[in-house]
Amino acid sequence: MPGMLPGPQASCQRLLVLQLLLLLLAAAPGESRPPSAGFSLAGSWLVRSQDGSVALPGLVPGCVHSALFQHGLIQDPYYRFNDLNYSWVSLDNWIYSKEFRIPFDFRKWQKVNLIFEGVDTVAEVLLNNVTVGKTDNMFQRYTFDVTEEIRDMNTIVLHFQSAVSYAAQQSKAHTGYQIPPECPEPVQKGVCHVNFIRKEQCSFSWDWGPSFPTQGIWKDVRIVAYDICQLDYLTFTPTYVSSAGEWNLKIEAYFDVVSSKPFGGQVTVSIPGLQTQQMYNIELHPGKSMIPLLMNINKSITVETWWPNGHGNQTGYNMTVNFKLEGGYHIEKLTKVYFRTVELIEAPIAGSSGLSFYFKINGLPIFIKGSNWIPADSFQDRVTVDALRLLLQSAVDANMNTLRVWGGGVYEQDEFYEICDELGLMIWQDFMFACALYPTDQAFVESVRAEAVHQIRRLKSHPSIIIWSGNNENEVALASNWFSVPPSKLQLYITDYVTLYVKNIREIVLAEDQTRPFVTSSPTNGAESMAEGGVSQNPYDPHFGDVHFYDYASDCWNWKVFPKARFVSEYGFQSWPSFSTLEKVSSPEDWSYNSSFSLHRQHHRDGNTEMLEQAAIHFKLPQNPDPLVMFKDTLYLTQVMQAQCIKTETEFYRRSQSEIVDGKGHTMGALYWQLNDIWQAPSWASLEYGGKWKMLHYFARHFFSPLLPVGFEDDGVFYIYGVSDLHKDYKMTLNVRVHQWSSLQPVCARRVEPLVVKAGQAAPLYKEPMAELLRQCSPCTRQSCVVSFSLTAGNELSSPTNHHFLSSLKDAVGLEKAKITAKIVQQENIYSFELETTAVAPFVWLDVGSIPGRFSDNGFLLTEKKKTILFYPWKSTSITELERSLHLISLADIY
Ligand SMILES: *[C@@H]1O[C@H](CO)[C@@H](O)[C@H](O)[C@H]1NC(C)=O
Ligand SMILES: *[C@@H]1O[C@H](CO)[C@@H](O)[C@H](O)[C@H]1NC(C)=O
Ligand SMILES: *[C@@H]1O[C@H](CO)[C@@H](O)[C@H](O)[C@H]1NC(C)=O
Ligand SMILES: *[C@@H]1O[C@H](CO)[C@@H](O)[C@H](O)[C@H]1NC(C)=O
Ligand SMILES: *[C@@H]1O[C@H](CO)[C@@H](O)[C@H](O)[C@H]1NC(C)=O
Ligand SMILES: *[C@@H]1O[C@H](CO)[C@@H](O)[C@H](O)[C@H]1NC(C)=O
Repeated sequence: MPGMLPGPQASCQRLLVLQLLLLLLAAAPGESRPPSAGFSLAGSWLVRSQDGSVALPGLVPGCVHSALFQHGLIQDPYYRFNDLNYSWVSLDNWIYSKEFRIPFDFRKWQKVNLIFEGVDTVAEVLLNNVTVGKTDNMFQRYTFDVTEEIRDMNTIVLHFQSAVSYAAQQSKAHTGYQIPPECPEPVQKGVCHVNFIRKEQCSFSWDWGPSFPTQGIWKDVRIVAYDICQLDYLTFTPTYVSSAGEWNLKIEAYFDVVSSKPFGGQVTVSIPGLQTQQMYNIELHPGKSMIPLLMNINKSITVETWWPNGHGNQTGYNMTVNFKLEGGYHIEKLTKVYFRTVELIEAPIAGSSGLSFYFKINGLPIFIKGSNWIPADSFQDRVTVDALRLLLQSAVDANMNTLRVWGGGVYEQDEFYEICDELGLMIWQDFMFACALYPTDQAFVESVRAEAVHQIRRLKSHPSIIIWSGNNENEVALASNWFSVPPSKLQLYITDYVTLYVKNIREIVLAEDQTRPFVTSSPTNGAESMAEGGVSQNPYDPHFGDVHFYDYASDCWNWKVFPKARFVSEYGFQSWPSFSTLEKVSSPEDWSYNSSFSLHRQHHRDGNTEMLEQAAIHFKLPQNPDPLVMFKDTLYLTQVMQAQCIKTETEFYRRSQSEIVDGKGHTMGALYWQLNDIWQAPSWASLEYGGKWKMLHYFARHFFSPLLPVGFEDDGVFYIYGVSDLHKDYKMTLNVRVHQWSSLQPVCARRVEPLVVKAGQAAPLYKEPMAELLRQCSPCTRQSCVVSFSLTAGNELSSPTNHHFLSSLKDAVGLEKAKITAKIVQQENIYSFELETTAVAPFVWLDVGSIPGRFSDNGFLLTEKKKTILFYPWKSTSITELERSLHLISLADIY
C-alpha cells in the first residue's frame, strides 16, 4: 500500500496548483486510496552543450537561454544586438539531464509513466540509458511508459536537436516540392523553415519580434505511477437546452486504463451553489476509455450565466467530481464551472449580399472589441502569472471584451485562460499556424492531430474561449498567392491546406467540442469559404466573415480608407515604445531614430519611414537641435500618430455596427493588432514590453468605452453617432463644444436633448454641415478650432469626451506651447496629478519613466484650465520619486 502523495518540491508548487486541484484523500488503507502517486521533476537540471564545453544548472520549466542568462554566461538576450550575438545558443544541440530518486515504492504500482507537459521541441528522451521516447512538437503532452526502466535511483537525459537545424533538415527531406516561405524577410533577421517544425512560429523571428529559437523543457515534467487507471483529462461544457428551458452540463473523463479487465465504479458530481448533485454508475474498459456524463440542472434553479466584460458578472460555480472505483480507488477533482452559450451567426442580411458574422453570447448579440495577443516573451519561463494578470487587467481597463490568441505564438498556459474566465475576456483561439504553407506528410499530420486533441481537451472547459480558428492568414496567403507559387502547383497547396485545416483540424474540433464555432482561418469568409471548398477566391470579402486590414500609406484620418466589413480581426499601425523602455536595452549611441540600433529593432520593412510619413500627413515632424530631445519627441510623435489612426479606424468600425451602406456594414467586431509586445522594439502594440501603456492604450480605453459619441465628416456634413454596448435604451443629452486653439474659453456650446441612445446600437444623433457649425461659432475656421462632444444620461451615466479635428494639426492656427504644471498629491495608494495649463493643449502626455503603473487618462486634449489625473502604481512609489521622473509634454512642445 503506497503512502500518501509526497509533497511537491517548493519549485513546482506553482505548477501543481495550475492544474485542476487533485485531492488525494488520506483515508484508512484498504478503504479508499488514490489510483496514482506522482511527483514533479521540475527544478534544477544539468544543462550541457553538445561538446560539453558549457555546463551549468538550469531550471525546468525553462530554456537554455534563460539558464545561461541566470548564470551570467550571457547578458540580457534583449540587450542591443544580442539576438544576433547569441544565435550560437540555438544552433547547438543541448543536453538536459537530472538524477532523481523515486520517493515511494514504485514496485507496488502497475504502471509508471513519464509525462512531459511541454518539450521545446526536438529531443530524444533516455531514462537510465534507454531511449523511452522522442519529441518533436512543443504543443503536445508526451506520456512515455517507463515501467520497465524505472529504478530507485534514476538518470533522465534529453538530447535536444537544434530547432533550426531540424527545420532545415525536414525541409530538405521534403523533396517532392517546396513549402514556402523558405525564409523570413532579411529585415527580420530570422532563421528559415519554421513551418517544418511544430514550435512557436514567431520564435524564428517575426515582423515585431526577434529570433530566439529556444531549446528546453518549457512545462512541468512528472513521474506518475498508477494502478488500474489514470485520469488524463476531465472536461466540462455546458449547453442550454432551450426546448426544456434548462442547462445541461456535459462532463467527459478521459482515462488510460491499465487494468486488463473492465471494472466499474461510481461518480458523484456536485455543484453546491446550484443545489445539484448527481450520481452515475460507470464502467471502464482497458486502454483509452472516455466516460461521458450528462448532468442537467433542474430548471427550477436559477443559474447565473457567465458574461463578457462590460455585459455582466463572470459568475462561476464550484464543482466536485468524485470517482469511487472498484478496488477502493478514489479520485476527487475540484473545479469551477461557468455557464454561457456562444453562437456565431452567419445569416443573410436584408439589403446586403453575403452573410452576417457576429457572436451571440447567452443569446445576446455582442460587439467584439479588443486586440490580438502575442507571446509575452521570447522565453516562456519569464512569463509569470503576475505578468499575465497585469497585461490582461490592462485589456479589461481599456474596456476590451476579447483577445485573439494569434496563431504564430503558443497555446497559452492554463492561468492565462483562468484569468480570462475571471475577468470576462473572450478568447478567439487560433491553432498555431501562421503566414505560411505547411507540409502534410503523415508524420506531420499525426503530430498536428495529437496536438489539436490535447489542446482542445486542455482548454475547452474555459468559458472565455468562444471560437476555434484553424490558422492565421493561410487561406488568404493561398488565395492571394503571397508566396508566388506557380499556377500549375497551386492545386497541390490547396489540397495540403484542405487536408490540414478542413479534413484534420476541423474534423477534430467537430468531434471534440460541439459547443463552439470553428472557422478554418482568420481572415476567412466563414461559411462561404467552406462552400468554396475551404479556400475562398477572396477571403478579404467584406460581405463575409472577418478581414484583416493594413494600409500605412493612406491618410488614416480619412475613414473612407477602411473596409466596411462584417468583422475586422486585425488592423493597426506601428509606433515606438517610450524612451524609458528602450533605455533598458540600449546605450547612448543608440538614441537616435536612424541609429543602427533603431534600424535593428525595426523588423518591418520601411517601418520607421512609414511611421514618419504617416505622422507627416497631419503633424510637423520634430526639429529639436538636441539629438536626445529630438529622439524622444520622435518616439512621442509615433505614439500620437498610432493612437489617432487606430482611434479613427476603430470608431469607424463601431459606428458601422447597425447600418448597411451600399450593401456593406453590420460590423460586429474590431480587434486591433496588437495588444502586447514580445520585446522592446517598434511594433503595432498598445502595451510595451513590461506592460507600460502607450498612448494608444489610453485611447483604447475611450474608443472602446461602452457608451461613445463618434464624430466624423462626410461630404462636408458633420455627424455624431451614439454607439452603445449597453443593455438598455437611455435618454441622453449630447453636449457639443467648439474651442479655439488659442483660448481656454469655448467659442460656442450646444446641448441637444432629449435623445435616445438605443441598447447595442450605433445611430446618428447629430448632423450639421460643417460650414454652418463654423459660421455659428464665429470667428472659428477649420484651422483655428476643434470640436468636443460627450453624452450624458442625468447623473447616471456619461461617455468620455470625444473630439474631432477640423484640420491637420500642422496647420492649426493659434496653437501655443502650453505651460502645464502638475502638483502631485497622495491619497492612500493612488496619486493625483493636479494639472494646470496656460493654453489648450492636444495630446498631453504624462510620463513617469520606469515607475510601473498607469494613469486614469493620458494623451488627452486639454481644454480646461485645471484637470486632475490619477496615477495607479503597480508597485509602491512616492511623491518624490514621481516628481523626479515626471516628463510632461504636449504636441506644440515638439514644434
Ligand atoms: C554583437 O553584435 C553586434 C552587431 O552584430 C556587434 O557589433 C558586436 O560587436 C557584438 N558584440 C559582442 C559582445 O559580440
Ligand atoms: C549506455 O549505453 C551505451 C550503449 O548503449 C553504453 O556504451 C554505455 O556504457 C551505457 N552507459 C551507462 C552509464 O550505462
Ligand atoms: C426539479 O425541482 C422541482 C422543484 O424543487 C421538483 O419538484 C422536481 O422533482 C425536480 N425535477 C427533477 C427532475 O429533479
Ligand atoms: C452581479 O453581481 C452583483 C454582486 O454580486 C449583483 O449585485 C448583481 O445583481 C449581479 N448582476 C447581474 C446582472 O447578475
Ligand atoms: C469555491 O472553492 C474555492 C477553492 O476551494 C473556495 O475558496 C471558495 O470559497 C469556494 N466558493 C464557494 C462559493 O463555495
Ligand atoms: C533618417 O534618415 C533618413 C534617410 O537618410 C532621413 O530622410 C530622415 O530625415 C532621418 N530621420 C531622422 C529622424 O533623423
